[in-house]
Amino acid sequence: MSETSYYSRRSFLLGAAAVMVATKSAQAQTAPQMHVFKDPNCGCCMAWIEILEQDGFRITTEARTSGGLVQEKIKRGIPRNMASCHTADIEGYVVEGHVPAQDIRKLLAERPEGIGLAVPGMPFGSPGMGPEHQREAYEVHLILRDGSTRVFTRYDAAA
Ligand code: CU
Ligand code: CU
Repeated sequence: MSETSYYSRRSFLLGAAAVMVATKSAQAQTAPQMHVFKDPNCGCCMAWIEILEQDGFRITTEARTSGGLVQEKIKRGIPRNMASCHTADIEGYVVEGHVPAQDIRKLLAERPEGIGLAVPGMPFGSPGMGPEHQREAYEVHLILRDGSTRVFTRYDAAA
């Protein structure tokens, strides 16, 4: 390796390191704060929470009985056909079920009109619900204020 290419490679690496540091501190500043209502005995809720924490979310939880969880869903206007295991609040929106981190970030960045996002049921292969490479097809829905929904993101089944 010539001396010139050594130095240019070194400055490239330093540049990359600087970018990584900048990204990290930006992440810390914008770490979204989410509050999750869940059944303390639900393992898939914890699996979903751990995935989001690894993605940089800061999460607090509150235990609810299954009846209490239904109350939280009704209070927020989550239609019955959009219901899943856990219900969460984040920056004025609701997150119902195993919604991927990237969709929550998109919600917070785009701030659409509506109540929030839902992945109804518990589709296999959604975050916290088993391996992504065995994923079944599912949709993330945006719940609107009148209770209607539209597809926010469509995930195909893993090949
Ligand atoms: Cu679940
Ligand atoms: Cu859950």
